[in-house]
Amino acid sequence: MIEDMLRTPAAVQEAQRHTAHNYHPLPVVIASAEGAWVTDVDGRRYLDCLAGYSALNFGHRHPALIAAAHAQLDKLTLTSRAFIHDQFADFCRELAALCGKDLVLPMNTGAEAVETGIKVARKWGYQVKGVPAGQATIVVAEGNFHGRTTTIVSFSTDDDARADFGPYTPGFKIVPYGDLTALAEAVDETTVAVLLEPIQGEQGVVVPPNGYLPGVRQLCTERNVLFIADEIQSGLGRTGATFACQQEGVVPDMYLLGKALGGGIVPVSAVAADAEVLGVLQPGQHGSTFGGNPLACAVATEVVRLLATGEFQRRSTELGERLHAGLRALIGKGLVAVRGRGLWAGLDIDPALMSGREACERLMERGVLAKDTHGSTIRLAPPLTITAEEIDHALAQLAAVLAG
Ligand SMILES: Cc1ncc(COP(=O)(O)O)c(C=O)c1O
Repeated sequence: MIEDMLRTPAAVQEAQRHTAHNYHPLPVVIASAEGAWVTDVDGRRYLDCLAGYSALNFGHRHPALIAAAHAQLDKLTLTSRAFIHDQFADFCRELAALCGKDLVLPMNTGAEAVETGIKVARKWGYQVKGVPAGQATIVVAEGNFHGRTTTIVSFSTDDDARADFGPYTPGFKIVPYGDLTALAEAVDETTVAVLLEPIQGEQGVVVPPNGYLPGVRQLCTERNVLFIADEIQSGLGRTGATFACQQEGVVPDMYLLGKALGGGIVPVSAVAADAEVLGVLQPGQHGSTFGGNPLACAVATEVVRLLATGEFQRRSTELGERLHAGLRALIGKGLVAVRGRGLWAGLDIDPALMSGREACERLMERGVLAKDTHGSTIRLAPPLTITAEEIDHALAQLAAVLAG
């Protein structure tokens, strides 16, 4: 009877009716949110342990970010890059400083930042490195996830992401992730870049072996190849540092950023690199109508300022230890493996017990939202504003789900 009065079932059906079924969402219909918590159309509250795949690193509706957005909405929202607006210079300068790079190129989605990185690397290859016309190659890793455009899915190793979307863009070599020997063999005089996630998020928060990222850096330097770090999911505080690369003492030639850069409000992505790399682009060679728009810049500048305090990176480190200790205690009690760093974890559920999807559905029934990937893996990436008590609450719900 009470079930009949809930709005969720009809709202779930309605949400499916007029849309392509390119997602398989959990049957929860969210109506409002604050901090680490969301509320559905029936008034039920859930602890958000996915945080928009890290797009909500600062939680839902962080007051400073909402204030920046409101203030900008009242002044100016869009100009296109045909004109300069008064939010642009601050954003580019402050983000470049955060990255330790000369220049920034703002776009909107993560995939666009990746596409931008590929274009810039190819142009750099032809104009600076001297690769023969049309020969540039980029080396990528098995298990990668860099987005959904036709070029990007061309070098995906995930059949769901790639199959039936050909013809595929040539110019990519795929090597096993974490294998320096294979990488060294794949790099030749036509190689313009190595494109990697410092931790593979979609693949299940896969951390490469110790020494891998420094080895990639050294190889790229020795062979005059750009190291492009896709920090779209791993960056901006998620792992306990501004960039996951920093934790390995590595500085890539190019950072690809997105997700959290938009503060959970607007899509903002960017490429950051030094002038000898990003400087290869001339007017007319790349762009985006919405890239670097005033609203995006106002919000993203505030994001950069939040990160510049170091508070969120610290929280991620400290609370991440608590999260990982709690998860490790569940190994043998329903979990078979736990990976990750900071407030980011990939958990492998014992497949004999239940699938990742089933575990997420049961967690949802207990008021915790998370997302499965690749069968029996669950990803946890709560907002960096989550408290110790909230982490303990999520761990207790997970333990209860695994205990059946
Ligand atoms: C590492 C990485 N790169 C790129 C992307 C693509 O970002 P977007 O969905 O904003 O295009 C994602 C999205 O999950 C990602 O995790």
